[in-house]
Amino acid sequence: MRIIIAITGASGVIYGIRLLEILANRDVETYLIVSETAKKIISIETEHDPTYIESLATRVFSNDDMTAPIASGSFKFDAMVIIPCSMKTLGMIANGIADNLITRAADVAIKEGRKLILVPRETPLSAIHLENMLKLAKLGVVILPACPAFYHEPSKIRDLVDFIIGKVLDQLGIEHSLFKRWSGEVLP
Ligand SMILES: Cc1cc2nc3c(=O)[nH]c(=O)nc-3n(C[C@H](O)[C@H](O)[C@H](O)COP(=O)(O)O)c2cc1C
Repeated sequence: MRIIIAITGASGVIYGIRLLEILANRDVETYLIVSETAKKIISIETEHDPTYIESLATRVFSNDDMTAPIASGSFKFDAMVIIPCSMKTLGMIANGIADNLITRAADVAIKEGRKLILVPRETPLSAIHLENMLKLAKLGVVILPACPAFYHEPSKIRDLVDFIIGKVLDQLGIEHSLFKRWSGEVLP
């Protein structure tokens, strides 16, 4: 399985890093793109070195490298996940603007009918954000907000992050035990 992972400039870059960590131990090829603002937010929100993050991926591309294989529809990939996805990147994709590698690869995923999963993080959401998300959802894009649940009794930030990563893996059809699934049991 070959998956493109893009980290864009929204809060919650840890989600993208954690997805890479999980997939690094699976039989999955990961193609990573990190936007310039995401790089700044990684240094603000995490202790991670960019080289550590890059080491988790199979291949890394610059967001301005429009000659990368993933910019072409002829290059096969199974899915793309933008995690977290800024409202700017989401708006560009919703409007067919493909002026960097992330938005171009997403444009390719949509036109080729491949799985595209966006993990937006913003609050509150404006009517523009909601209209863009609706437009994409109608095209079959999975809108998976970074909005963790609490029924699995999280006790650490890692539990909240892993809930979202588990939902992404569910969408990708990858088995995991990152969170306890609701079984219908009534908690005491
Ligand atoms: C610290 C920080 C946090 C941000 N958080 C968000 C956010 O949660 N959601 C969002 O849509 N934009 C957020 N932004 C704004 C985006 O980074 C900005 O719109 C940027 O142009 C996005 O570019 P990119 O999508 O190419 O990474 C944040 C910016 C900074 C500096």
